[in-house]
Amino acid sequence: MNWIMNILIITFILLGLIKETFSQTGADAKALKEKIFVTDGYDYKIRPQQNQSAPIDVYINFYLLAINELSEVTETLKTTGYLWILWQDDFLQWNASDYGNLWQYFWPQGDVWRPDIALKNSFTDYKALGVDTLNVMVESTGHVQWYPFQVFQSTCAVDITYYPYDIQTCKLEFVAWSYSKAEVNLMSGAKGIDLWEYESNSEWEVLDTNYTTEAMTYEAQIVFTIKIQRKPTYVLLSVIMPIIMLAILNIAVFLLPCESGEKASYAVTVFLAFAVFLSIISSTLPENSDTIAVFSMYLIILTLESTLITLTALVLIRVSTFDQDGTPVPRLLMTGLNFLTCKSCCCKKKNKVKDKKDEDDIWSINKTTIEEIPCDDETKPEGTWRDVVNAFDKIFFIFYILVLAVSTVVFFVVVSTNKG
Ligand SMILES: *[C@@H]1O[C@H](CO)[C@@H](O)[C@H](O)[C@H]1NC(C)=O
Ligand SMILES: *[C@@H]1O[C@H](CO)[C@@H](O)[C@H](O)[C@H]1NC(C)=O
Ligand SMILES: *[C@@H]1O[C@H](CO)[C@@H](O)[C@H](O)[C@H]1NC(C)=O
Repeated sequence: MNWIMNILIITFILLGLIKETFSQTGADAKALKEKIFVTDGYDYKIRPQQNQSAPIDVYINFYLLAINELSEVTETLKTTGYLWILWQDDFLQWNASDYGNLWQYFWPQGDVWRPDIALKNSFTDYKALGVDTLNVMVESTGHVQWYPFQVFQSTCAVDITYYPYDIQTCKLEFVAWSYSKAEVNLMSGAKGIDLWEYESNSEWEVLDTNYTTEAMTYEAQIVFTIKIQRKPTYVLLSVIMPIIMLAILNIAVFLLPCESGEKASYAVTVFLAFAVFLSIISSTLPENSDTIAVFSMYLIILTLESTLITLTALVLIRVSTFDQDGTPVPRLLMTGLNFLTCKSCCCKKKNKVKDKKDEDDIWSINKTTIEEIPCDDETKPEGTWRDVVNAFDKIFFIFYILVLAVSTVVFFVVVSTNKG
């Protein structure tokens, strides 16, 4: 589509050139300048309206070229774009046939009156639009068209509640700063906010745009709204995946036997890696106390889990030394653990299978006799502290995996159902 547009534009420009070069001479242009700025005494400081008590209608379109960056930390949106601004200047009119059909001319923007439009919610200082070397296009009818091009840095209240599936609505508020609504009337052009030259961004997708001219303010204003949605793939792969992997590594501490002597250092090392990683991530999120991101809650839960895992591992190491002290294992604890780790029920099941096979198939007698496992646990529930620690390792491994799985699933369900 773009190349068709380009060809059309080039054709129009060429046609325009042919038309302009028709009969115009440098003398015509000089005469026109003489007429407007010397004879008529055009002054850019005067609002160009014959009737000074009527407002001047200014039409604005915003052409968004690119979204450069949305910073969550400073809460700013950086966009590149240009405005198309049109108004009627009563003092910049001439009869084209008097000047060799010179029907349009470009004047430096500083030479003609312009509405002092500026970005109100700018993150930087108040800055006039455009630069002095930029020209405005003036037609013999008095229509002035101005295309100030700029990088706009606007403030944008970033709501990261549903990070990384968040949708942000940012505004660009343009006001005619020193004119009241009765003097300058800002209106939207036919396009409003236009995306036909927009270059897509790898991080953000534009969902919707809109504009409004209703304002509660003294000065006229036009507000362009851009609704963008984060593409979550990068965050999922480079932030959330490593966190989940570290959390799994952390839980793997319960696979290490206490005798290896590595359990404590392993738990603390993974906890440290986790803590460092989390502090890096939290520095990329805004310091916001109004809303707490679901993602932050998830991180807090994971940090809590990691702390508890480290604590549990340390306690278990301590417990594993009780055997040397000769402390007996309480019978109730052992029975409870056997029940929890399902030792007795597994044993029962196996015996049952054996019995069944006996009835069906006489050939299985030999096989099952070999497979038969003695059920020590049922008959002797007392064991060593070593067994207690092993049982707890199993229980905690499963427990923490469950906590991780549930919190991860809940996090993704809450966050990905965000509809903005
Ligand atoms: C000037 O504009 C005002 C406001 O629109 C209007 O009331 C008034 O009649 C106009 N005057 C002339 C001379 O057109
Ligand atoms: C423009 O100038 C031509 C020739 O000088 C004249 O015939 C015509 O009426 C003028 N038009 C206007 C709108 O003044
Ligand atoms: C744009 O804003 C107007 C109000 O200013 C509203 O009526 C309209 O529905 C909005 N359009 C979209 C697509 O949101």
